[in-house]
Amino acid sequence: DKGGHRHFMAKEIAEQPMVIGNALRHYLTEAGDDIRLPGDMPDLGQVERLVLVACGTAYYACLTAKYWFEQLAGLPVDVDIASEFRYREPPLAPGTLAIFVSQSGETADTLAALRYCRDRVAGIVAVVNVEESTIARASDLALPIHAGAEIGVASTKAFTCQLTVLLLLALRAARARGRMDAARLADLLSALRGLPATLNTALEIDAPVREVARDLSAARSTLFLGRGLMYPLALEGALKLKEISYIHAEAYASGELKHGPIALIDETLPVIVMAPCDALFDKTVSNMQEVMARGGRIVLVSDAEGVEAAGGGTFRAITMPVTDPVLAPILYALPAQLIAYHTAIAKGTDVDQPRNLAKSVTVE
Ligand code: F6R
Repeated sequence: DKGGHRHFMAKEIAEQPMVIGNALRHYLTEAGDDIRLPGDMPDLGQVERLVLVACGTAYYACLTAKYWFEQLAGLPVDVDIASEFRYREPPLAPGTLAIFVSQSGETADTLAALRYCRDRVAGIVAVVNVEESTIARASDLALPIHAGAEIGVASTKAFTCQLTVLLLLALRAARARGRMDAARLADLLSALRGLPATLNTALEIDAPVREVARDLSAARSTLFLGRGLMYPLALEGALKLKEISYIHAEAYASGELKHGPIALIDETLPVIVMAPCDALFDKTVSNMQEVMARGGRIVLVSDAEGVEAAGGGTFRAITMPVTDPVLAPILYALPAQLIAYHTAIAKGTDVDQPRNLAKSVTVE
């Protein structure tokens, strides 16, 4: 049942305020003022290191979480793609907690990576959508993301729910390790409780997204740029676009632009820049100027302050509501998904069943 939407993907994008609200209800106390985890959750204050392993979109959720765990909690994190991890057979320090993230809980490589960790790490936690899945059962503890069934092949609401649960773990780690005071935690939890409403506002930003999508649908290739927390999101935006519109899309950390990809810039290459007006924004503006000086066409996804600060030059802008920069990857996932969705619609590709892809990859 598409609930009145044209595609499951549209329905699942639109459901995000609700399902993130569900996830928050499950992992926050009734008053919403503290994080509630199962009793058998390993103590994130004692863990020495994390290793996060997943595939595809779930891997980009892990990559985002690395920034959170390291910046907020001072907890070192290794992140890997399951297919690389399992065959590299990395040495693992005894105080390591391994976290596997999977929507389906059936991804063959992720499961094999999990099995490799058995007897090599201090604990194995799975962050899954399907609670009865093989990965959930093979772990010491499974944390459900409460996204509800995801039917569209391109993952959307599972991604933002994965991010929500991983952020809550990072906040718990930050508190347990004495890296965050109660007031800052209260601030962030309050911003999180307000996130469903902010996401609803973001869902209304339809007109500029459609215009951008019309442009992109004529492109042969596109580039996504982001810095810090927006870098993994740029990767996710590029993956979404190629999966469902079949337009080649690459993502780079903005600072890497001049180390190679800037050679690609010309008037045929749309460059999508994901950048809320945060501490790194000035650097992003200078990257934008480098692109525009070479005739590149910029699409800036930012907040009103960022769009204003980016000032001169011609670029398209998608103006987002404001949120705490820590939460921005969850909010900015929406335009990333919507750009891909509307570009696919403009091209007439099959959004829910993209060619060559399966919802769950149970073989290598
Ligand atoms: C992208 C997508 C895939 C999955 C990947 C992992 O839209 O859906 O990249 O994220 O196959 O799947 P799970 O999370 O089920 O392990």
